[in-house]
Amino acid sequence: MSKVAGASWSIDDIPYRALDRESLRDEPLLFELVTSASFIEITSDVYTRNLVDYFRDDPEVAGWLADRWEREELQHGAALKKYVQTAWPEFDWQAAYRLFHAEYGPLCTPDRLAPQRALEMASRCVIETGTASFYRALADASPEPVLRKLAAAISADEVRHYKHFHRYFLRYRKSEKPSRFAVLRTLLKRAADVETEDTYCAYKAIFLSRNPGFDFERADYDAYRDRVLALMRGHFPHTMAVKMLLKPLDMNPLIGRAMLPAAASATRLFLRRYDGPI
Ligand SMILES: [Fe+2]
Ligand SMILES: [Fe+2]
Repeated sequence: MSKVAGASWSIDDIPYRALDRESLRDEPLLFELVTSASFIEITSDVYTRNLVDYFRDDPEVAGWLADRWEREELQHGAALKKYVQTAWPEFDWQAAYRLFHAEYGPLCTPDRLAPQRALEMASRCVIETGTASFYRALADASPEPVLRKLAAAISADEVRHYKHFHRYFLRYRKSEKPSRFAVLRTLLKRAADVETEDTYCAYKAIFLSRNPGFDFERADYDAYRDRVLALMRGHFPHTMAVKMLLKPLDMNPLIGRAMLPAAASATRLFLRRYDGPI
């Protein structure tokens, strides 16, 4: 895979040969987390298409989405896939991904975008907050050095994506003038949606490919989510996530401080229970 023009790293910069498989021996949760992330990232083009279409008459945004954002998200997927295949070669990544794609693909439809462009940009800020925090936590939690390096590189990309979306949010806010309440409602709604149906479908696909013939039940996902929460508790960068989450509200510092407890609980929503269809 060639380097994405302007990107700060490429898949060739990741030293997969130095991967220390021994340190992953007792880390089944890292296997599930990294595989799940690889499925979601490598499917980025499905939801990017919706977004590019939504912003088609804004060449600057549409161009950035297609030339940088989508390609970097796909690179995250490719780099994580290569990590999974190097670290856990006995796992059939391709077969499990087919299961994931069959279920998750149809859920990605254009009508899930926000009704106003400014609000969609705010919504994207939440998603990038979630991914930047997740990969920061993953880098911190990993006992394996190559995964630490890869997760840190991805996290830095997600922070840069956030900065772009935030800049576009400010631009659209000027022309569309959404109320602060509408922005807050969008942020909270999106925070509640993040890490639910995509991680649910990803875990289900991993579970079914590792346990052929078994039934998958919501309780299996709930148990997984509890294990993820327990791991994240010690590594999730709450301060960074809360700051990023509050920024589109552009509050004076006093109100911002008063909002912190609400925003902190919003960050926990990244990992809430999935209540959608099984
Ligand atoms: Fe990503
Ligand atoms: Fe991103």
